[in-house]
Amino acid sequence: MPKIKILPHEELCPNGAEIEATVGKSVCENLLNSSIDIEHACELSCACTTCHVIFREGFDSLNESTDDEEDLLDKAWGLEPKSRLSCQTIVDEHDLTIEIPKYTINMVSENHPKKENKNSDMEKTLTKKDFSLSDSALSHISSLLKQNNSSGVRVSVKTSGCSGYAYDLSYVEIAEKDDYVLNIEDVNLYISKESFIFLKGTKIDYVKKGLNSELIFINPNISAKCGCGESFSVDQNLFQQA
Ligand code: FES
Repeated sequence: MPKIKILPHEELCPNGAEIEATVGKSVCENLLNSSIDIEHACELSCACTTCHVIFREGFDSLNESTDDEEDLLDKAWGLEPKSRLSCQTIVDEHDLTIEIPKYTINMVSENHPKKENKNSDMEKTLTKKDFSLSDSALSHISSLLKQNNSSGVRVSVKTSGCSGYAYDLSYVEIAEKDDYVLNIEDVNLYISKESFIFLKGTKIDYVKKGLNSELIFINPNISAKCGCGESFSVDQNLFQQA
């Protein structure tokens, strides 16, 4: 039986692991069958990047990747030359060594059950240097929260559009495990650890454009924006520094 060695991962297997793998099953299935709870937001259907792994040994023995996998991989966090989506790599008789990247971007996380929720002990309070709002953005968000009877807003980055990522704002009442939190007057902002990598140092402003007004993100981490302004990309070095 081939073996899969998993290098230590802070949350999924802090001491590393070695499992006996089933030939013909994907690396992702083998990990999940051995209680290594790798993200698999699209349920192994090659529609997200959350099962991304890097092969430290055995890469050349793997089945070839499809165009769909290659396209998705471009959006994965911490992409390396020997990256693959673990749900698309089938185990044969060769041993493998893999590294599970520290972060994922979870494009369908709304449909994926969360393991643990609501642990305010894990919150990290941000300062205005980490993330800030202009006076006009603060007053606009504050009035939106009042209109919606909500006390907080989640700021997220999701995979989207032609340039890779887009911002998302949603109303929330309470922090989730590992959230970063910023309290400004009556506005509570929550940012997941994964999204904060993209957002560190960002300021939100609220500006007038012709007859309309909108929230804009002044984000120092962006490397390019798409023509319509809806999505953006970042330098891959950002993930190495995280
Ligand atoms: S689980 Fe979504 S691409 Fe593998």
